Amino acid sequence: MNYKIVTLPGDGIGPEIMAQAVKVLDEVGNRFGHTFNYEEHLIGGAGIDELGSSLPQATIDACKTSDAVLLGAVGGPKWDTTSNGDRPEKGLLKIRETLGLFANFRPALLYKQLQHASPLKVEVIGDSLDILIVRELTSGIYFGRHERTICDNPKDTYAEDVEYYNVGEIERILRVGFDSAMKRNKKVVVVDKANVLATSKLWREVTQEVAKDYEEVDYSFMYVDNAAMQLVANPKQFDVIITSNMFGDILSDEASMLTGSIGMLASASLGEGTLGLYEPSHGSAPDIAGQNKANPIATILSVAMMLRYSLGLESEAQAIEKAVECVLDKGYRTGDIMSVGCKYIGTKEKGSYICEAIKLGN
Ligand code: NAI
Ligand code: MG
Repeated sequence: MNYKIVTLPGDGIGPEIMAQAVKVLDEVGNRFGHTFNYEEHLIGGAGIDELGSSLPQATIDACKTSDAVLLGAVGGPKWDTTSNGDRPEKGLLKIRETLGLFANFRPALLYKQLQHASPLKVEVIGDSLDILIVRELTSGIYFGRHERTICDNPKDTYAEDVEYYNVGEIERILRVGFDSAMKRNKKVVVVDKANVLATSKLWREVTQEVAKDYEEVDYSFMYVDNAAMQLVANPKQFDVIITSNMFGDILSDEASMLTGSIGMLASASLGEGTLGLYEPSHGSAPDIAGQNKANPIATILSVAMMLRYSLGLESEAQAIEKAVECVLDKGYRTGDIMSVGCKYIGTKEKGSYICEAIKLGN
């Protein structure tokens, strides 16, 4: 089969990790007889620099007619002052919204080979962890009104960020989360702050309604502050976590560290149809950009999610996941997951080893 994949490398380490993702996808194409046609476009700082926009129209048009979109990362101090109010991250928020990608899947998966890279004690983390965070992506406080009001007395000057959710937005993300739970261990925790926030109270009411359609799913609620604590105290209690945009952003970074490094955490953003956007959960890591140090696994595992969710290619997705395991088994590590007795390798080498494992059918 032929597929049209839009690649958006972005800034910082984005282009380096994207190069490895494309290399791996081509290897999958070779082994399984698919052709992936790439169309590369600008987003973020790269868009601001070349076309004066963090999300050029050509990028939107290409994404809309693609089978799937692969994104590297965007952002960096370079654009703090130079972009006339535009910011690299605005391009990212806008593409998710424009494509209607309201559901963000962030699996926090611990590979047994990285048990010692986790900051948690082995007794707590064990040799496996598999949590799926389902984060609402196109509403909530990130999309509410952001405003500053300047007052005569500078001390009275204030700013507001509005958290907004309507019933339809809450219901559709809950259904996606409960559907995922049905394919896993039928266990959901909805994370909120219902002791304070009106939006969270609405989430609880809608959850109780939606749950009636999923009688087999065991669901409960947890306040976000407790969830932050429970994730480090007893992470194994979680299977699927469903939560709002901001809480999901924060908790998924926390969960990623349990697995050793944010450089391991993939993500998928999906809407009503099959078109999805796939990207690592980390940012553009300006501190290590251009040095062949970035771990490309988060992006490569995002490619596996793309094959599974947008293209329906399950065996191909599993081939990538097995190849990643194989390379970890051999002890090849980038700096972020390095431990005693392992062999240090760079970004490109890691991509190449993963390709080799795919080719050999490991
Ligand atoms: P970051 O995720 O870029 O980096 C945090 C730390 O993790 C850094 O020490 C970095 O070196 C390390 N790191 C990240 N990815 C890595 C990888 N693949 N391999 C090895 N180490 C890795 O977050 P930070 O520093 O808060 O943000 C940097 C820029 O990225 C900011 O402009 C931020 O707004 C943007 N950002 C973009 C995101 C995206 O494109 N989806 C998400 C998060 C942040
Ligand atoms: Mg984040």
